[in-house]
Amino acid sequence: MSDSPISTEKRGDILIVTSNNPPVNALGAGVRVGLDAALTQASADDGIKAVVLICAGQTFFAGADITEFGKPPVEPILTDLIPKIEAFDKPVIAAIHGTALGGGLETALGAHYRVAVPSAKLGVPEVKLGLLPGAGGTQRLPRVVGVKAALEMTAKGDPISATQAHKWGLVDELAEEGALLDTALALAEKVKAIRPIPRVSERTISPDDAAIEAFRKENARKFRGFDAPAANIACVEAATRLPFAEGIDFERTEFMKLMFGSQSAAQRHIFFAERKASKIDGIASDIALRPIAKVGVIGAGTMGGGITMNFLSAGIAVTIVEQAEEALNRGVGVIRKNYEASAAKGRLTTEQVEKAMGLLTPSLSLDDLSDCDLIIEAIFENMDVKKEVFGKLDAIAKPGAILASNTSYLNVDEIAASTSRPQDVLGMHFFSPANVMKLLEVVRGANTADDVLATVMALAKKIKKVAVVAGVCHGFIGNRMLMPRQVEANKLLMEGATPEQIDRVHVEFGMPMGPFQMSDLAGVDIGWHRDPTRIESIRDALCAEDRWGQKKGAGFYDYDEKRNPTPSPRVAEIIEDFRSRSNMPKREISDQEIIERTLYTMVNEGAMILEEGMAQRASDVDVVWIYGYGWPVYRGGPMFWAGLEGTPKIVEGLKKHGFTISPLLAEKAEKNEGF
Ligand code: 3HC
Repeated sequence: MSDSPISTEKRGDILIVTSNNPPVNALGAGVRVGLDAALTQASADDGIKAVVLICAGQTFFAGADITEFGKPPVEPILTDLIPKIEAFDKPVIAAIHGTALGGGLETALGAHYRVAVPSAKLGVPEVKLGLLPGAGGTQRLPRVVGVKAALEMTAKGDPISATQAHKWGLVDELAEEGALLDTALALAEKVKAIRPIPRVSERTISPDDAAIEAFRKENARKFRGFDAPAANIACVEAATRLPFAEGIDFERTEFMKLMFGSQSAAQRHIFFAERKASKIDGIASDIALRPIAKVGVIGAGTMGGGITMNFLSAGIAVTIVEQAEEALNRGVGVIRKNYEASAAKGRLTTEQVEKAMGLLTPSLSLDDLSDCDLIIEAIFENMDVKKEVFGKLDAIAKPGAILASNTSYLNVDEIAASTSRPQDVLGMHFFSPANVMKLLEVVRGANTADDVLATVMALAKKIKKVAVVAGVCHGFIGNRMLMPRQVEANKLLMEGATPEQIDRVHVEFGMPMGPFQMSDLAGVDIGWHRDPTRIESIRDALCAEDRWGQKKGAGFYDYDEKRNPTPSPRVAEIIEDFRSRSNMPKREISDQEIIERTLYTMVNEGAMILEEGMAQRASDVDVVWIYGYGWPVYRGGPMFWAGLEGTPKIVEGLKKHGFTISPLLAEKAEKNEGF
């Protein structure tokens, strides 16, 4: 018996070539060798008049095998195999189900006909890995779907439905679900004698400079900082200008540049990091999970409402509890308004809105949570109040119910100790707005049971979150690393930097906003002592003058009615005043010093988090920063970036400013390696 993932079966004069390479039929070496052999078999056999290429399992080829990237190529390579399919002298029909992605769709484009079930999705997501479709996709796709659609598909990377693909001519025939092979065989029968065989590379395409220019302009903001979108656009443009073979050469050169650049390495790192994050060290992947059919949420404020929406959208019933009727009604109203806004944008149907709202039970009594399988507390950050709530929950919740706190800083073990069942307690730290942000820090207490942790990690996937396990420490992973950044940013103001300069350095680095822009957005007054006469910091002075951030039209910046920021002369005065009062000499601060003191310090804190075992692995820290704070994905997260920047350089930079270096970071620097 052969262990090749490719098997063949002759049905009449059609050869059915089936790939079975779980989980996603990636086009690894074994698949390519098998496909090549199948072509040889079909070529040698005069009794074969056409070939149907189909996949077993969940999906058609979901792309090249990403784990092979960066390693020496194994023949036959995809860029040779696809032209061989296209040049084949008997018709080849690709039969698509699941996802035809990247090299998978490129293989289908090399085939002469494409059949798909309506539920299939087709796309070239390479741009999300910092790449471009490098097996002829940028040259063949525009010849089939046109310039505009090809730009959308390559430079943004989102897949399209088979129905859309059918409309655009990318799919020749739609098959009924379950009848893919039969439809492909029928088509093979119909076309087996047709000559010339239609080959995409032989189609012509006209230049469309206006469309390309408009697309570049429209998406300039979205593509800021990324190399790959521009390269994808350039390749599509080349398809409209160059003969096919030259276009392929152009594509190859651009692909290689991206493949060996740091951005793609970072983006591929994050692809695997995101998937690894869901795995819990030391817990068997087949551990029995607790069923979660009903969720309780305590608090109908911004956080509680957002958390609730995640579950409703996933079809899970929620009971939401508030203390006062007015607050409850307001909270439920906001949830409805958010859903209706999505419906207005065409993202949801009215039925979907009503279905979600129908799963919601508002209540004024904690007693109504007695039938919930998971209860999430989302009230304000105060240990005494949280302990009181958990004490009550202990008496109300059914045995085995999971009790979670949405705290962003507080000690989950202390909260758990206020119940008689600390094994059922953990932290579920959502990020605001909780219905939008993808990150969920799942905080594992000292006594949290394995099945409780595993249940919540699995549930996170169901509500479309990227979850990371964190240990109990102040601020967990994300907010803990934010602290040294904030402290240094504030010190830098005193020493002579401006909020604009510090924010600019962060935005140029690729962050969506800098520390002071973030402060203005979140509210400068968060955590303020609320005493306008007690002014001990620049922040206190701002708060005392009602400069609470965007919501007040003033914070570290001045804002107009449309919330456009401008540098504030008043803030400059406040800073100046503080500086002179503390006898701090003003000096020129370089952008590099800002990087050293606000970004290198984050790496240092991340290393301490790893040393203390508060994160399972460095890539988890990266996932937190990418999905929770908008760290530029093309820099791969702070720990991956440390490797790009060079750990020796980081240590040197930190030492210059007198920081204590984490032993783990020092060790990495000594060996000149990343995390
Ligand atoms: N190569 C290698 N492994 C892959 C892979 C690929 N292309 N795609 C997925 N996998 C692995 C995942 O790492 C994961 O492994 P794990 O179980 O060990 O963690 C496993 O397959 C299952 O993946 P998911 O958890 O993502 O499964 P889902 O069912 O949620 O999603 C999917 C399936 C939509 C196919 C998703 O995996 C996906 O988007 N894959 C990447 C598709 C892609 O980017 N293709 C382009 C590749 S680049 C290319 O083709 C270059 C060419 O132009 C030359």
